Amino acid sequence: MSPTKPDLLGRDNREPHPVSESESDTNLTDRRAHWQSQNLDARGRKLLERDGRAFLHQSVSTPCLNAIVKAQGVWIEDTAGRRYMDFHGNNVHHIGYGHPRLKRAIAEQMDQLPFAPRRYACEAALELAEKLAAIAPGRLEKLLFTTGGSDAVEVAVKIARTATGRFKTLSFWDAFHGAGFGAASLSGEALFRSGPAAPLVAGAQHVAPFGCYRCPYGHPCDQDGRPFLDRCHLACADMVEYVLAREGDVAAVICEPARAVPYLPPPGYWRRVREACDRHGALLIFDEIPTGLGKTGRMFACEHDDVVPDILVLGKALGGGILPIAAVIARADLDVGGDWAFGHYTHEKNPVTSRAALTTIEIIEDEGLVENAAEVGAAALERLCDMKQKLTAIGDVRGRGLLLGIDLVKSRDTKEPDPALAETVLYRALDRGLSFKTTMGNVLTLTPPLTITRQEMARALDIIEEAIGEGSE
Ligand SMILES: Cc1ncc(COP(=O)(O)O)c(C=O)c1O
Repeated sequence: MSPTKPDLLGRDNREPHPVSESESDTNLTDRRAHWQSQNLDARGRKLLERDGRAFLHQSVSTPCLNAIVKAQGVWIEDTAGRRYMDFHGNNVHHIGYGHPRLKRAIAEQMDQLPFAPRRYACEAALELAEKLAAIAPGRLEKLLFTTGGSDAVEVAVKIARTATGRFKTLSFWDAFHGAGFGAASLSGEALFRSGPAAPLVAGAQHVAPFGCYRCPYGHPCDQDGRPFLDRCHLACADMVEYVLAREGDVAAVICEPARAVPYLPPPGYWRRVREACDRHGALLIFDEIPTGLGKTGRMFACEHDDVVPDILVLGKALGGGILPIAAVIARADLDVGGDWAFGHYTHEKNPVTSRAALTTIEIIEDEGLVENAAEVGAAALERLCDMKQKLTAIGDVRGRGLLLGIDLVKSRDTKEPDPALAETVLYRALDRGLSFKTTMGNVLTLTPPLTITRQEMARALDIIEEAIGEGSE
């Protein structure tokens, strides 16, 4: 390969930037330092200094960009009193930050029953389990709760190992499934799986994911980023089956039904993978930690594809953006670990986190937030398509519901990513009161709360259009 030609994923291989290619954003360049020098007040600076001293440094989270003192609805507010619409929110803020009904429910639960020690059942955890079983797709009906998504992913894998008598997993390169040893092994990013923490868990196989705009298998797409199915024949799905067949003993395929970058599955992808799993005796686990509970305009992202997994994992927004709780929801016949303790977590049936989750789901239902995500998201995607007509720096726009992405490129012909422009746009947007994350270095990823109004979305897209329109520095 010529050293000047972008590689299959559109990367300039003269300048390897493993960090900027991550699903997470770091933005540790001079642009960040410049923005901080212009924007942080003395209190913010002081907090960042203390933060840098107190915490072990790690990529993505420390050092921090800014310090905040308030989070309410879609807004976060920094120490200088500047407010930003939070279109990132780690995907926890589906119902907006600090929802009053949620705060009341948590307070009442704390008064009534703040904790349930092991061996005691409690109403809140049971109600939550029954509610999740009722709304989950297909016949997913037996649950375990954990405090974090990474743990829940690992519980799902333990169930799959026990049910199949196999230990291998198959997941996507470029995915993130959590920071624990097991979840990091499933992840497909150097940032989380390589380096001094390795070796990780044996048997974690990976396959290149779907991603039509930059198809890892080299297939072209049309100008709207859609695949030519009559040419690619879903090679990406066939490769999953290829690996399942060659390995012959994979316990589970574990993936996000819509990738967080974002990338949507091509039509028919999950159906073919579902059939391949069934043919080869592997379970299908969907990690819906960021996408679940309405983000994509359906309660679960897999509903768009009409495919039901054997196990579904939820987290993040489940705690309403206040408390940490995650869930594993499995088919009843996967209740196979009775002699073991796969999810032996101290806060396994915590009544307060359970109440938070239950109330969050009730708020999502009562306020019609899934429908709102679908409507506002569809209008936003239309606007992004218009923006793409006007701005050549936009190579692709894609997404579903309120999981949206703008892929910035140096050239539409080569699709070479433009991480410098993405970062510039990020800081320009912050200057105008909008916060979001960049993914893989060059994709502006927009994940506002499901409470977002059309007007707020229009304002955010105005900001982004202006910021891109100003061009590179
Ligand atoms: C797809 C996916 N799976 C798992 C996780 C891990 O969740 P947690 O950080 O709660 O452990 C994340 C977190 O970002 C995620 O995006």
